[in-house]
Amino acid sequence: MNLRDELKTGKKRLAIWGLGYIGFSSMAHFAHEGVKCIGTDILQWRIDAVNRGDATTTNLEYWIGFDIKPLAREKVIHATLDWQDLVKPDVAVHLVTIPTEKDGKPYHDILKDVIEKIATFKSVKTDHPVLVIVESTLTPTVVDHLVIPLLKQKGLEVGKDILLGVAPRRDWFTAADKGLNVLPRVVGGTTSETTDLMADVLGIICKNVIKAPDHKHAAIVKSIENAYRQLDIAFANQLTLAYPDMDMKCILEMVGTKWNVNTYRPSFGTGGYCIPLAPQYVLEGAKNPEELTLLQASLKTDFGQPARVVKSLLKRGVKKVGVLGIAYTQDLQVHVLSPILPVIKGLKEAGVQVKVNDPYYKDEDLKKITGCETFAFPDGMEGFDTILLGAGHMPYHFIDHGRILANLKSCTLVIDNSDRTIWKEINFPKSVQYYATGQAHWLD
Ligand SMILES: NC(=O)c1ccc[n+]([C@@H]2O[C@H](COP(=O)([O-])OP(=O)(O)OC[C@H]3O[C@@H](n4cnc5c(N)ncnc54)[C@H](O)[C@@H]3O)[C@@H](O)[C@H]2O)c1
Repeated sequence: MNLRDELKTGKKRLAIWGLGYIGFSSMAHFAHEGVKCIGTDILQWRIDAVNRGDATTTNLEYWIGFDIKPLAREKVIHATLDWQDLVKPDVAVHLVTIPTEKDGKPYHDILKDVIEKIATFKSVKTDHPVLVIVESTLTPTVVDHLVIPLLKQKGLEVGKDILLGVAPRRDWFTAADKGLNVLPRVVGGTTSETTDLMADVLGIICKNVIKAPDHKHAAIVKSIENAYRQLDIAFANQLTLAYPDMDMKCILEMVGTKWNVNTYRPSFGTGGYCIPLAPQYVLEGAKNPEELTLLQASLKTDFGQPARVVKSLLKRGVKKVGVLGIAYTQDLQVHVLSPILPVIKGLKEAGVQVKVNDPYYKDEDLKKITGCETFAFPDGMEGFDTILLGAGHMPYHFIDHGRILANLKSCTLVIDNSDRTIWKEINFPKSVQYYATGQAHWLD
């Protein structure tokens, strides 16, 4: 019996290290195909959620699209704080889905910790070398420079005692058509046999698996695809600076009607795990990073964008600002590198009173993350002179416009940074200046 069949028939199990967006969605999809999964995390509440059959992050259950409860009831999915439960003779595949970034920079301590723990399988009697698939985003060189030497130190030869590869994720967690099972999946192992085995295993849940020449090629695909996006978005923001009195948002929408050009939207900057970090991953792994001048410039533009927003708001004399949405994009509970956070920080440092709202976060978490008091939406907006719509979450979108307008009595400025410009249809009174990011004079 091959490994794929052993997994599908329950003879072998699959382990998942880290049960956030990436890990939990992998777990759910494999379990849905009948594969017994065991996961671990350092957060007890995530362990409890899995064992109850609940998604471990807000709204993830909608994106997954099938009922998770029966999978937990029948113990097809199970989670434990005790990582040693994952290093057992019948666990044949390990998915590594932990964070690989910290404070906006690639960060490898958690990866090292997890790899060291997986390496303890050496003392467990198995009839096969285990397969380790890193789904977390990696700098192209990290497997060769860190993971393989670490395993060697533990007495394991990669490709023989342990099989290792990377299969980065590119899901978009709010779009049903951009799920784990439908998006093309690039995979690459340190040997071609490993790549074949990875394709076989991931083929259980992914319809379209693309084999890369090796792990380095697979890892860099993910970084380069996102570096392209960051370059394009930074260019959109540079254009609004170069042509401040033209409606660059509208121009770029028309540019995007050309058959081989996408539509890019000026904004407060990029956020999340992937796009802002991708150029750094590409630069960090490059043999000749000095050749990547475009990336260096786009990083500078992108990370400088929140400061430009702050400067413009201060010039406009804002005093009391309400922020709607601290997440970096709509309907996700992810504020990693969200550009609204440096905007909030900059305003507060300049003495502006800032309060925040985000329906996907608890009030105490919002306070901890931003250092600001919270307010209710829409009733608590009275009293702000400025509203920054940071993320276009559903509750901000699907609401009677009258309720928004009734609470903007003192407001004179609204800046809409939402991906879909969700407030563009609102009939604001003359006393309110409304700008979608990228419109003429939005950064005056
Ligand atoms: N979220 C996305 O849209 C997305 C998309 C593509 C790639 N990625 C990449 O996938 C990786 C994971 O991202 P995510 O969104 O799932 O993050 P996440 O923060 O939602 O989940 C990571 C989980 O790992 C856990 N963890 C931390 N240290 C651990 C340890 N030592 N042992 C076990 N678990 C530990 C955390 O508690 C957390 O629950 C990152 O490298 C990220 O860049 C994320």
